[in-house]
Amino acid sequence: MKVLMVSPGFPAEMPRFARGLSQVGAQVFGIGDQPEAMVPAAARHHLTAYLQVPTLWDEGAVIDAARRWLAPTGGVDRVECLWEPGMMLAARLRQALGTPGMSPEQTILFRDKEAMKQALDKAGIRTPHHFRCRTADECREAAERVGYPLIIKPIDGAGSADTYRLESASELEAVLPKLTHVPEVSVEEFIDAREYTFDTICADGRIQFTNIAWYRPNPLIARTVQWISPQTVNLRDTRRPELAPGRKLGRKVLQALGFRTGFTHMEWFLTDDGEAIFGEIGARPPGARSVDLMNYTCDTDVYVGWAQAVCHGRMTEPNARLYNAAVIFKRAQGEGRIRRIEGLDRLLTELGEHVACIDLLPVGAPRRNWKQSLISDGYLILRHPNLEATCEMADRVGRDLQIYASP
Ligand SMILES: Nc1ncnc2c1ncn2[C@@H]1O[C@H](COP(=O)(O)OP(=O)(O)OP(=O)(O)O)[C@@H](O)[C@H]1O
Ligand SMILES: [Mg+2]
Repeated sequence: MKVLMVSPGFPAEMPRFARGLSQVGAQVFGIGDQPEAMVPAAARHHLTAYLQVPTLWDEGAVIDAARRWLAPTGGVDRVECLWEPGMMLAARLRQALGTPGMSPEQTILFRDKEAMKQALDKAGIRTPHHFRCRTADECREAAERVGYPLIIKPIDGAGSADTYRLESASELEAVLPKLTHVPEVSVEEFIDAREYTFDTICADGRIQFTNIAWYRPNPLIARTVQWISPQTVNLRDTRRPELAPGRKLGRKVLQALGFRTGFTHMEWFLTDDGEAIFGEIGARPPGARSVDLMNYTCDTDVYVGWAQAVCHGRMTEPNARLYNAAVIFKRAQGEGRIRRIEGLDRLLTELGEHVACIDLLPVGAPRRNWKQSLISDGYLILRHPNLEATCEMADRVGRDLQIYASP
């Protein structure tokens, strides 16, 4: 099996998927805009060959280059991309190279949040009331129809960028000038509810692996309030009765969008009334260490499991769920360089074996921009079979671990 992988070296998780492919016996041909020497060794070791292109965003040029490069190999069996901005390029490469997998038409349903919701509305799936808007007047009109509070966000957004919750027409007027660089937005009914994921690995339309994580707090709040240490809590027991509507919703969504093979990452809302409402879906894994959380939950290697599904049509890695696994992202107080980390020793003594991973910026490093990276200044991962114990420990890390920066 020969696989063309788009951007095997970036972002950070990609080398692990390249490893997965090579571990299940695939020959991996990487194509990316990084110079070969800059592709992390963790990816390079698993590549049969690598082609650097000047940019990944000139699709025609990338397709021509890939065609010429792959001709002597007799072509590839699959084209894989697990990075959101490269999804459409991968679809066009498939089309040009005649490989199976998602077409550009199918890909649009996972990239364009309006096209996505329209397809789901047609299938009778509950989505937030929504409108696509290109001008300020269209936004005003949509706001009248949706009512307040509402959400305004880019059609192809990521990382909650340019996403606002608005309470009134005057707030809308204040926000419109900030959105002039966004060509199209979605104006949506605000759903007041808990937020979860529904993630899968599928092979030929059959679900091989299911995962549910709980965002604490909701991402929009986490991305707006700096002092919060956002958590993603991967749930051991995805069969809890209150999650059943979300599982059902997830299966219906995959069917309605015709998803066949690979990773999916859906976000959904669970209201106090127990209703599951669709949020969004990507035809790719979640980022921000969420795939590692799946590994910690199941003591498995999901990177390999995904590759098995893609290359062999079946995931055979273990998938019994043993632990809740929580990642807690930390943000330093103050600007500049990390000067002090407080509370870590005590937490490690108290939480002991339940700490699965620590990855904090070292003292002396410049702190990161928390608005741009959910990872922020680093994170801890905890795991425990009991959900309440997991959340209690995660909250302690939020409260008792503090990082200080100064110029
Ligand atoms: N209709 C809505 N009702 C309530 N909250 C919403 C709604 N739409 C978006 N949000 C909030 O904004 C966040 C970001 O929205 P969404 O997931 O659609 O965009 P995104 O930028 O692709 O997110 P990310 O890349 O962080 O997953 C959601 O996780 C949720 O907290
Ligand atoms: Mg989202």
